Amino acid sequence: MTEHGVAGRVVIITGSGQGIGRGMAHHLGKHGASIVVAEWKAHRAERTVAELETLGVPVLGAVCDISRRDQIDDMVARTVERFGRVDGLINNAQTFRPTATVAEVVEDDMDVFYGSGPKGTLAAMQAVYPHMRAAGWGRIVNFASAAGITGMPGYAAYNASKEAIRALTRTAAREWGRDGIVVNCICPGAASKRGKDRAARDVEAHEEFIRKHPIGRLGDPEDDIAPVALFLCSDASRYLTGQTLMVDGGGFLTL
Ligand SMILES: NC(=O)c1ccc[n+]([C@@H]2O[C@H](COP(=O)([O-])OP(=O)(O)OC[C@H]3O[C@@H](n4cnc5c(N)ncnc54)[C@H](O)[C@@H]3O)[C@@H](O)[C@H]2O)c1
Repeated sequence: MTEHGVAGRVVIITGSGQGIGRGMAHHLGKHGASIVVAEWKAHRAERTVAELETLGVPVLGAVCDISRRDQIDDMVARTVERFGRVDGLINNAQTFRPTATVAEVVEDDMDVFYGSGPKGTLAAMQAVYPHMRAAGWGRIVNFASAAGITGMPGYAAYNASKEAIRALTRTAAREWGRDGIVVNCICPGAASKRGKDRAARDVEAHEEFIRKHPIGRLGDPEDDIAPVALFLCSDASRYLTGQTLMVDGGGFLTL
C-alpha cells in the first residue's frame, strides 16, 4: 500500500523563513512531517520555528547560508542528531538581487546566484545522500523557474543558475534512482513577497500576464504550491523522477 502523506517524515526545507519555503513548512508540518527550517536570516528562521511550534510540529531551526558547504554539512548533521534521519530535502532557497542582461552581467552576480543556486543545491544533495542511500528511501525537490526555461531577458545570472539546477536534478535522478531516491523540480508561480514585488515592478506586464493566465491569479505558497511539494516528498511520487513540474496555474503555457 503506497503511503500518500508525509506523516513521520523528516524534511529539510531551505529558505523556509518566508515565501514559498515558509508555506511548505506549514503545509508539510500540518500533515505530520518534522521540519528543519534551514534559513540564513535568523529572524525569519525564528518566526517560522515559532509558528510551527505553536502548531505542535516537531521542528529544528538551523541558521544556515546555503552557499556555505560547511554550514550545510553542519545543518544536516544536526538534523540527523535531532531526528535520527532525513527523508526529504527541499532546495528552495535562492539569493536574489537585481540582475542584468547577458551583455552586462558581472562576475559577482554569477557567484551569488550560482553559490546559493546550483552549488548550494548540489552541496545539500551531497550532504543528505549518504543518509537517504543507507535508508533506501529519499525525496529531493529542487526549485527552478520558468524564467530560466524561456530565457527571460535581463535575468542572465538567475536564468543560468536555475537551468543548472534542472540539469543537476535530471543527473541525480538517473544516478540515484536505484537507491530509492527520486529527484524532481518545481517551477512555481507564487504570490510570495518576491513574486508580488516583481509584479509591482512592472504592473502593466503583470496585468497582461494575469489576463492571459488560465487560472487567473498567482498561486498561494501554502495552499497552491506546497501540496505538490508534499506529494513529491511522499511515497506516492516513487515512480516520478527527473521531472520539472510547472506549478503555476498554467501560466507557463501563455508565456
Ligand atoms: N515566487 C515565484 O513566483 C517564483 C517563481 C519562480 C521561481 N521561484 C523560486 O522559488 C523559490 C522560492 O521563492 P520565493 O518567492 O519564496 O523567494 P523569497 O525570496 O520570498 O524567499 C526565499 C527565502 O530564502 C532565503 N534565502 C535566500 N538566500 C539564502 C541562502 N543563501 N541561504 C539560506 N536561505 C536563503 C531568504 O532569506 C528567504 O527566506 C526560489 O528558489 C525562487 O527562485 C519563485
